[in-house]
Amino acid sequence: MTKRAALWNAVATLAAVLLLFLFVDPAGRAPDWARFMARQHPAIVHLPIGFLVFAGLLAAFRRWRKADDPGPTEQAALVLGGWGAIAAAAAGSWLIQMGGYPTDVLFWHRVLGFVIPLAAAGTLLASMHTPVRGLRGATWTLLIGSLAVGGHLGGEMTHGKAFTAEYAPGVLKPLIGEAPSLATRFDLSRPDSVTVFDAIVVPILRAKCTSCHGEGRSKGGLDLTTSDAIAAHETDSEDDPLITWGDAEASLFIQRVMLPAEHRRAMPPIPDAKPLSHADVELLRWWVDSEAGFDGTITSVEIPPSIDRLLQLYGMEELASGVFALDVPEADTSLISGFRATGATLFRVAADQPFLDLACASADCLTVPALEGLQDQIMSIDLSGSDMSDESLAALSVFPHLSSLDLSRTAVTGATLDALTGHQYLTRLNLYGTRVADAALDQLADFPALESVYLWNSSVTEEGVARLRDALPNAEINFGE
Ligand code: HEC
Repeated sequence: MTKRAALWNAVATLAAVLLLFLFVDPAGRAPDWARFMARQHPAIVHLPIGFLVFAGLLAAFRRWRKADDPGPTEQAALVLGGWGAIAAAAAGSWLIQMGGYPTDVLFWHRVLGFVIPLAAAGTLLASMHTPVRGLRGATWTLLIGSLAVGGHLGGEMTHGKAFTAEYAPGVLKPLIGEAPSLATRFDLSRPDSVTVFDAIVVPILRAKCTSCHGEGRSKGGLDLTTSDAIAAHETDSEDDPLITWGDAEASLFIQRVMLPAEHRRAMPPIPDAKPLSHADVELLRWWVDSEAGFDGTITSVEIPPSIDRLLQLYGMEELASGVFALDVPEADTSLISGFRATGATLFRVAADQPFLDLACASADCLTVPALEGLQDQIMSIDLSGSDMSDESLAALSVFPHLSSLDLSRTAVTGATLDALTGHQYLTRLNLYGTRVADAALDQLADFPALESVYLWNSSVTEEGVARLRDALPNAEINFGE
């Protein structure tokens, strides 16, 4: 190869790099054919790396042999490596347009991606024509250095640190960093004080949307970085409003993320590096449907079971439910000891709960004056084997937070079970060894909170139990079978 050819190669390389740098706007939208090329970037990069490392080995061998000028193989490897690097830089530039890569790492990876072809052309030129001493060594150092660093940064972006660290021996993990666990994605440690927007929506938007909608650029005029910007966004007249609280389907924000990925208007646009997961979409829909707005806390809105499961996967503790979610004051301890003096048993269900467990040997204990002032705290009453009868059931109506009732081995027939309908928290009912029959069971359909009903050794039949199971599909009906 002549010096002239090496010079032209350098000029053409510089022109190609400038074209890519000036005309492929990282914030632009890549056309489909470019997206196809973009996806090949991780494969294409290996071609120039191979050629350039090969040229480097030939040069080192030549130095060792004290030969001066590069042979035709080394020259060809530098030319092919340089142009391969331009192809990789082009594919990389389109890949950047598809978004989703960490901007800090990306910046240096992109700079080095442009430096590598220039360094390859410069190395070739310097090896044919050296006006300055030491220039050859400098161009080689620049070339191999930018290949090593640029390649490393690229690897970090495609696989992430977690990929390198996954099989690392335990002692190395703190050095390399571990894969983030599901529980660290959202901070759900204080669901009663943190808003759905801050705890859940903002992290999703930051991870998947604000690379295009915010941080200096707002595609489609949409900025998703702050609640004010989201609230103020006006959509085109033919579109639905960005967000209609309580109606996810009528919100452009949700419509766009629910479109099939290949739809032209789907968000984030494919082939994006970071699509929304099914869980992300479900959480965003819940945010809009729940009317949490920007200020609603997690516990202030209704959490459907599917979302509750998701939030627990992401590390949220199970929320208090039933009576435990109520704000009931502590019982007066002097009242408790006063009542115990009558001979009945009364104890706290847990040290950190205001609720009390009452056990009575006789129905009379429900009406003793010493119980006055303790009714709100009593959540569980055990009357098993007592003289409880159908007539005395009405005495239970003064315990609004009753959630567990044991009437086993009593004379109760169930004829007056409707006296319990006011007990909206009643979850456990024990009717073992009573004369309760099928007709009484039908009244239990009015207790939607019931989770378990014990019916062994009672007068109910299998048909009655089957009817009850239909009426209370979520309850466990214990029939002793
Ligand atoms: C790779 C860049 C990119 C990413 C990432 C991205 N968008 Fe977009 N978005 C655009 C572009 C470009 C437009 C304008 C063209 C259009 O409407 O399709 C747009 C438009 C929109 C619009 C319509 C705004 C209007 O008023 O017309 C909504 C809503 C939207 N995006 C939501 C999202 C959400 C939510 C996310 C994250 C889940 C997201 N986008 C991620 C590029 C992106």
